[in-house]
Formats: sequence, C-alpha cells, structure tokens
Amino acid sequence: MNNLIATSIKYQDDQLLVLDQYQLPHRETWLPCDSVESMVAMIRKLQIRGAPLIGIGASLLLARLAEQGVGPAQLESAAATLREARPTAVNLMNCLDRMLAALRSDGPAALPATAERIFHEDIELCQRMAEHGAELIAPGSRILTHCNTGSLATAGVGTAIGVIGEAQRQDKGIHVYVDETRPLLQGGRLTSWEMRRLGVPYTLICDNMAAMLMAQGKVDCVLVGADRIAANGDFANKVGTYSLAVNARYHGVPFYLVAPYTTVDPHCPDGSAIPIEQRAADEVRGVGGSFGEVVWSPEDAPVYNPAFDVTPAGLVTGWILDTGVLTTDDVAGGALTALR
Ligand code: MRU
Repeated sequence: MNNLIATSIKYQDDQLLVLDQYQLPHRETWLPCDSVESMVAMIRKLQIRGAPLIGIGASLLLARLAEQGVGPAQLESAAATLREARPTAVNLMNCLDRMLAALRSDGPAALPATAERIFHEDIELCQRMAEHGAELIAPGSRILTHCNTGSLATAGVGTAIGVIGEAQRQDKGIHVYVDETRPLLQGGRLTSWEMRRLGVPYTLICDNMAAMLMAQGKVDCVLVGADRIAANGDFANKVGTYSLAVNARYHGVPFYLVAPYTTVDPHCPDGSAIPIEQRAADEVRGVGGSFGEVVWSPEDAPVYNPAFDVTPAGLVTGWILDTGVLTTDDVAGGALTALR
C-alpha cells in the first residue's frame, strides 16, 4: 500500500500508526497498530475516534493484514470483530461493508486499493462539506461547536471543524465557542488543540454554559458533526448535542449538522432505531488522560453514561453534506435516502 498521511493516522513504510488522542493535547504520541485486538482496544479507549476515522482505521488495518498474507476467512472474522468495537457510528459499518465487498469479489489483493480509496475519498468529502458550509457563515460569526469533528476525527479537514477552518481561511473573522464535552472532554482536549493549530480565535466553555451564551445573543450558529443520520433526518451525535439543539431552537439560533454521505443510514427510518453506545461508569465518576486519572464521586456512585444522544430532524436548520446543504423540505422529501 502507498504511504498515506493524515493528522491522526498514518500508513507509512508498511506500518499503521495512530496518534494517541487519549494523550492529547499534552503529548503527541504515535502508536503502532498491527492487530485487530490493538485496533479494537484503541477504538474503545478513544485513542482513535470520530465516526469517519474509525472506519478508515479499521479499513487500513484490514488492508495491512491482507498484505501480510492473512486469508479471506480470517479477514472476514477480523471485520466482524472490528464491527463490534463501537455500535453507533455507521461509518465503521459502511467502510467494513465496502472492504468485504471487495474481498468477496476480488480477494484479499483488492483490499489495499479499496482502503486507499476510502482514505482519499474522505479527504475530498471533507473539503466539499467545508466549502458548502462556509457559504452559510456570515462575516464576524460566533459559532458554537460540540465534541471534536476536525482533522482528528477524519482523514481530511473534518466536518463541522472543516467548515470552521474554511471560514477562517476565507478571513470571515469568526470566533468559536468550544463545548468542553463531558464526560470525555473531546472539546476541551481536542477541539481546543485544533483551534490553536488553525489559528481560530476560540473560547472554551463548560457544556452547561451554552444556553446562557445564546440568551446573551453571543452565538450566531451551532455546527456539530454526526455519527449516524436516519432516513428522516434525525441524527445521533456526541451526548449533549440534543440539549444544544433544544437551546438553539428556543433562542432562534440556526443549528446545522455537518456530515458526509457515509454517515447516512437509509436502513434507520428514524432516530429511535439508532443503537446508542453505553460506556463505563468510571468515565462519569472522574476523568483520565495525559494529566493522570482522578475520581471525584463516591467510587460506587450509580451512573448513566450514554456516549451519544439523538437530535430530532425538527430541530435542525440544515444538513450540510458533501453534496450540498439540505433543507427540512429536502429531507422530508426523501433526499437523504436518495444519497445512498
Ligand atoms: O465518541 P467520539 O469522540 O468518537 O464522538 C465523536 C462525535 O460525536 C463526532 O461529532 C462525530 O463522530 C463526527 S466526527 C467528524
């Protein structure tokens, strides 16, 4: 396979390397990934994360295994194990389906080229979303975003952060409010890191400050990513997205989601059919990362920890996709199902 270089994943000199997002922003450590077990462990620990990137990582690993001579039956079983690593982000399933289709029609030799196509396609999709989205950003906009949707979550410039980066490149004089994104702090750790790298002026806030900022008239729009979009336009994204959408509607703030066609699941009729990952209680009882680990609640505190929530289509102003921006009427007319 040819060398492939992105911000948070590399295929270089026959080695798959993942930037350890658990250690960011304080340490930039690249971890080799050479087995299904290590990829699954990295996905579960969110060392590699973001809906598009986990699909790309899983595909590159399968391609590497095929290059090492692993046979069709073992590749099928590797794909089945990888598929279970995170249930909500449909990009993982879509990428694995593409790899398996290539395996079944042309054998293991077809996997490297298929994985390379998936990688390069994601870069292009990100660029297109960024351009469509930037058209909606008025000069001087104050944008609120949640979780991390940038070059750490994709092979390219990202989804919502791709739009932010493009608006910055076009000198629109934007300012970004970054939700810290409890419980795993992808906003505080990762989006802040990306804003600095992009040179975008930003302010980090706790998630529960967003409504107050909106009430003060300090937010012009909300941009978020998605892990799975149902046929009717409902979508799952990092927990906390739904509260932002409710708050945005109440305050009359436009609320956009930004995602590639690979995040659309035409088999999910609506948000109630999206599987929601439940995660370990300790993530809510405390926090861990390059700064160490701390538990602040009683060690046996009962916890509810869904990783994602579902935002109903009725709260979305527009779906910014690689193909353009869909309106509520487009989505009600079946535009999302027509994409796949
Ligand atoms: O649990 P995470 O950090 O993988 O969640 C990420 C998100 O919710 C993103 O918004 C989504 O994957 C889209 S990233 C381009």
